[in-house]
Amino acid sequence: MNVNEQLKIQIIIGSTRQNRFSEKPANYIFEELKKKENIQAELIDLRDWPLPFYDDPISVGANKGIYSNPLGKQWANKIGEGDGYIMVTPEYNHGYSAVLKNALDWVYAEWNKKPVGFVSYGNAFGARAIEQLRQVVVELKMVPMFNSIHIPIDVYMALREEKLPINPDVFKPLREGRRGDVIERFFVELLDYAKLLKAAR
Ligand SMILES: Cc1cc2nc3c(=O)[nH]c(=O)nc-3n(C[C@H](O)[C@H](O)[C@H](O)COP(=O)(O)O)c2cc1C
Repeated sequence: MNVNEQLKIQIIIGSTRQNRFSEKPANYIFEELKKKENIQAELIDLRDWPLPFYDDPISVGANKGIYSNPLGKQWANKIGEGDGYIMVTPEYNHGYSAVLKNALDWVYAEWNKKPVGFVSYGNAFGARAIEQLRQVVVELKMVPMFNSIHIPIDVYMALREEKLPINPDVFKPLREGRRGDVIERFFVELLDYAKLLKAAR
């Protein structure tokens, strides 16, 4: 692979709830990723993908790319464009969102051999939702990243007051806190794996 080749990273907003929080960190991550060279960042809003609860007659792993639902096919094609993913997920009842699970289930081959990083928030910084996601994405032959972004409560509360576009200063505790630049470390790992796995594919 040419080292200067562009990598496409898709950021998925994992909540479709009215008044959702997830769009705020997702927009911030999107804006920060756009600043990087040779990276094409795309923000994917699951509100724009009103997939039914997975109901295709042939399971995705066996359908050879043929879907009875045209939206399912379009969704698989959209995911197929990505070289890596960032999933911004809420924690609902100690798990990640149902809408995100459904979006995962509609696709198989297009997720394979690609890295995925996670962003979450909540009482336990979204740790439980992210751990569940790690188990699930392995079955899709994805590579879950070691680094994830767990939004601290103070940042969460400040972000709730923010309107889009997000003031990047709100994320300073994750850029300049005692753990160093958590956001940059997250990007570096994801982009390294995106490059490696693109070559491997
Ligand atoms: C159905 C439901 C269940 C929730 N369960 C949890 C939970 O288990 N752990 C947690 O930290 N927060 C929980 N919360 C609070 C969410 O973290 C908070 O509402 C967050 O803003 C949800 O993300 P969203 O706004 O992006 O949808 C729950 C919220 C809802 C609506």
